[in-house]
Amino acid sequence: MKHDDSQTVVGIDQLGLYLPHYVLSLDKLAEARGVPPEKISIGLGAQKMAVAPPWEDTVTLGASAAERALARGSVAPDEIGLLLVATETAVDHAKPVSIFLHELLGLPSNCRTFELKHACYSGTAGVMIAADWVRSGAARGRKALIVATDIARYDLHSSAEFTQGAGAVALVVSEQPRLLELDPVSGVFASNVYDFWRPLDRREALVDGKFSLDCYLAALDGAVADYRAGLNGSGGTSLTERYAAMLYHTPFPKMAYKAHLRLFERDRAVAGTDGTNGAHRSAADGNGDLAAAAERSYAELVEPSLTLARLVGNTYTASLYLCLAWIAEQRARELAGREVGLFSYGSGCCAEFFAGRFTGSCATAARSIGAAELLASRREIDVEQYEAFTCEGSAGGTPGREEAGAAYLAGIRDHKRLYERTSWSS
Ligand code: CAA
Repeated sequence: MKHDDSQTVVGIDQLGLYLPHYVLSLDKLAEARGVPPEKISIGLGAQKMAVAPPWEDTVTLGASAAERALARGSVAPDEIGLLLVATETAVDHAKPVSIFLHELLGLPSNCRTFELKHACYSGTAGVMIAADWVRSGAARGRKALIVATDIARYDLHSSAEFTQGAGAVALVVSEQPRLLELDPVSGVFASNVYDFWRPLDRREALVDGKFSLDCYLAALDGAVADYRAGLNGSGGTSLTERYAAMLYHTPFPKMAYKAHLRLFERDRAVAGTDGTNGAHRSAADGNGDLAAAAERSYAELVEPSLTLARLVGNTYTASLYLCLAWIAEQRARELAGREVGLFSYGSGCCAEFFAGRFTGSCATAARSIGAAELLASRREIDVEQYEAFTCEGSAGGTPGREEAGAAYLAGIRDHKRLYERTSWSS
């Protein structure tokens, strides 16, 4: 990535991840719903989904991720001048999740804070706003905290039930970031479609499943075309050759597979029209097997990032950043100094294609994410327990140690949500 000498280098300084303590095997859910388990494990590529207990919501998940980001990155609360919370699982129509986090994290009163919504895209919207805020100088040396937090809920017994999940990611965005430098060039695509939505009176989302896949892929095409247009003369570059990893919004792992095959195909089309990627074209043609080349590209660039998506499910706004968390933690040494491509999609729809470069010393920040440790500490539940946790009306409780992160929802009184901090947070 080229940086103009006069341009401030801005990016992700620290990443905090948090997952609910409970997890359901999708084999068990398939059995209970009379669905062949291979349809889920192979057809969707999913194995487990995180289940939020009644004392966890987007506030508590987000607070726990944010606390981990600040503590593990040694970032003091008064260094944060902007807090943006991205979610499509709001807890109130007017009062934003961000103001609860502002209190739970002890952020200063001169910290600007609000909630962002555009389905799964708004986490990326937050990152872009924050990066611009830092670049503009308005930050005055302070950092931004972006929290993407969600609980994906569909109707029980629907086909989308297998693509639920829950979790949160917090990103500290700053100058001279320790983890990932963001390239200011990005490509955007927006179009009003009804592929996935949640009317104000519903807890569970509605979705036109097959159409949503088409919308996702059309948005990828549009965002990539806009990205190429911004590359100033190198728009014919093969993106699948340029990046050491490609991260996608992942509602279920097979979606990332479909997306990457589409990107590979479009790369080939661009190479075929402007001739700048002749080497790429002949290498693949030399094998006489484009499909095999696309599969290899997927195995190398995408598959290694999908472990959390496979074992946690859809985390909506946080989904893309779970992929980032996993490859950062697992492959930091190999990826240090190298570029990754990222694609964010939010139904409805808005999408963005952008890139970042891992810093030479990213391993230190990456090591502290603790993703593998979070996975290992989860407790498996059965379908009956999952249904009890998920049913409407169950809100609040008193968790035991390890059953919550930094905070929990104690209850709701007079329509007010009451949060408590735990004594054992990280
Ligand atoms: N063994 C192996 N594979 C099998 C199988 C079996 N026994 N039976 C079916 N399959 C395969 C199918 O061939 C299909 O694979 P391909 O797509 O590669 O052909 C796959 O399993 C799924 O089968 P169906 O398409 O029949 O599945 P479905 O009708 O049950 O619905 C879904 C799948 C549409 C994804 C549904 O789960 C859904 O609506 N999910 C929510 C919407 C969603 O996630 N959309 C993604 C794009 S929108 C977005 O990204 C925003 C967001 O986060 C929501």
